[in-house]
Amino acid sequence: MNMDQLKREAAARALEEVRDGMQLGLGTGSTAKHFVELLGERVRAGLKVIGVPTSEATRLDAVRCGVPLTTLDEIDHLDITIDGADEIDPALNLIKGGGGALLREKIVAAASDRMIVIADDSKWVATLGRFPLPVEVIPFGLGATRRAIEKAFAQCGVSGQMAVRNGKDGHVFVTDGGHWIVDAQLGRIEDPAHLATALSAIPGVVEHGLFIGLASSAVLAGGEGIRVIER
Ligand code: A5P
Repeated sequence: MNMDQLKREAAARALEEVRDGMQLGLGTGSTAKHFVELLGERVRAGLKVIGVPTSEATRLDAVRCGVPLTTLDEIDHLDITIDGADEIDPALNLIKGGGGALLREKIVAAASDRMIVIADDSKWVATLGRFPLPVEVIPFGLGATRRAIEKAFAQCGVSGQMAVRNGKDGHVFVTDGGHWIVDAQLGRIEDPAHLATALSAIPGVVEHGLFIGLASSAVLAGGEGIRVIER
């Protein structure tokens, strides 16, 4: 089975948790896209659900697949958010934001009773940090924000190159919220909770890709089948 098939398998397993009447957070990325497509098939067969997308890309996919949508202004909670991740550790801490949607993804996950992470098993790591950590920043005062981020890294015992993310067109990547992303190559993050707190305290940082204590379970698809890890 290739990686794309594994992603679809994980999405299909998470879909088994969805019940009639549920309000769902819809993640972003190639794995979440499989979930939205499979959900669309169930909706067309009569399943009644409503979704909140975590990006403009997912909103367009959901519309294409016929999944009814709402916003967090119109409903007061979500039952489950189903989303991918760039890295997942044994405590179900995550790095997210490879697709640039981390801010809306975190708002939606935090508004959900449960977050199910779906992934192929290459995302499973003993320690977070091999994947560059995305930090969403305000363009104004970026020099000062970068220095504050470096200071936070030093306080948390990590260091590494930082680069403003460019899009496929070679221009600076702009998030759905109109911000920029700095990707930090940290290698190993021994204490992700400490680093998450330190980054959140920096004024020019809008959000970062460390998702601590948000995932309730992870569905990992690999060559030997599906593994479900509960927190
Ligand atoms: C989007 O911003 C990310 O958080 C994605 O959820 C993450 O990058 C996983 O994407 P894939 O499912 O495409 O690997």
